[in-house]
Amino acid sequence: MTATKQWHVNKNVDNLSGCPQIQEAAACLKGNEVVAFPTETVYGLGGNALSDEAIEKIYRAKGRPSDNPLIVHVASLEQLHQICDSIPDSAQKLIDAFWPGPLTIVLPKTGALSKRVTAGLSTVAVRMPEHPVAHAIIKAANLPIAAPSANSSGRPSPTLASHVLDDLNGKIAGVVDGGASGVGVESTVVDCTVEPVAILRPGGVTREQLEAVVGKVTTDPALSQPDKPPKSPGMKYQHYAPEAPVYLVAGGKEKIQELAKLAQSNHKRVGVLTTEENKCEYPMAAAVIACGKRADLASVAHCLYDSLRAFDETHVDIILSETFPMKGIGAAIMNRLSKAAGGRTIE
Ligand code: TXA
Ligand code: MG
Repeated sequence: MTATKQWHVNKNVDNLSGCPQIQEAAACLKGNEVVAFPTETVYGLGGNALSDEAIEKIYRAKGRPSDNPLIVHVASLEQLHQICDSIPDSAQKLIDAFWPGPLTIVLPKTGALSKRVTAGLSTVAVRMPEHPVAHAIIKAANLPIAAPSANSSGRPSPTLASHVLDDLNGKIAGVVDGGASGVGVESTVVDCTVEPVAILRPGGVTREQLEAVVGKVTTDPALSQPDKPPKSPGMKYQHYAPEAPVYLVAGGKEKIQELAKLAQSNHKRVGVLTTEENKCEYPMAAAVIACGKRADLASVAHCLYDSLRAFDETHVDIILSETFPMKGIGAAIMNRLSKAAGGRTIE
């Protein structure tokens, strides 16, 4: 157990990469230590992508299965060319349109990276984050930085520095606290080694936005058919789960009310994951958590992981969740909720 250092930074100051907190965090990364920092999606757990030692520390701290490769984060196109052999046309268009931002692109890799980063694949997943703190740290370290979400494997991803500490305190060298992440769900992962481009994980950039730039995109069939092996290894694991089991209830609030009454009569403490619009509809539940506004799905994405984590303090026996439309960022919300539920859906 090592003490986890905390640095507080204001993401809005000028010349962030010169400030002492960022310099210290970058020095840890150069010394092959692992450090968590905010990105515009969720907090990441960063390590030098060229070092086996640093990558090993990431897998160990998270308890992450070793066959699940990491995303490499860059601050410049120069760094991208260091780690990728060739950039297909589709990837170049997506880079021009969405970087820096919440889009991860799977590309053919060079031999520069630690082999542990890509878990034996011939490709690497790369993104250029937009968050000023993430950008400043990568720039100050002057290294490509591998960074999975900074949670223990299986838990909801962290959107606050306190979430990182709840999971990883004593297991990592430090965390840079730059306030809440913005989008709230992870980046979209797209495979640009195939034509047409394929979505491997829905996320911060929507299908509609991708199609406006590269035309028709496909979706990995494993996203809708759980018996198919996913092309993104991480998608086969249960994820994002709070302590109590989650059930996704497709039948609307009447069905949730009926199930909550039934569970209560069986002496079970019921939690309901809802939104501002419906939060007064479940007086029979022991805990009701409103996750943003249904009329604004971006607000639901922003609060989703914090809401799932908040159920752990309520000591409920089960969590019943409302469902959301699959349009826009709703696809990413429903993907994360169905993972959190381990596929338990009540029609
Ligand atoms: O928003 C995000 O993407 C956050 C922040 C920190 O940047 N990172 C993140 O990393 O979500 P992680 O490790 O939690 O998820 C990475 C996903 C996994 O599903 C993994 O299997 C997939 O990307 N992945 C990584 N390399 C891949 C590759 N070469 N081919 C296919 N999928 C890959
Ligand atoms: Mg993750």
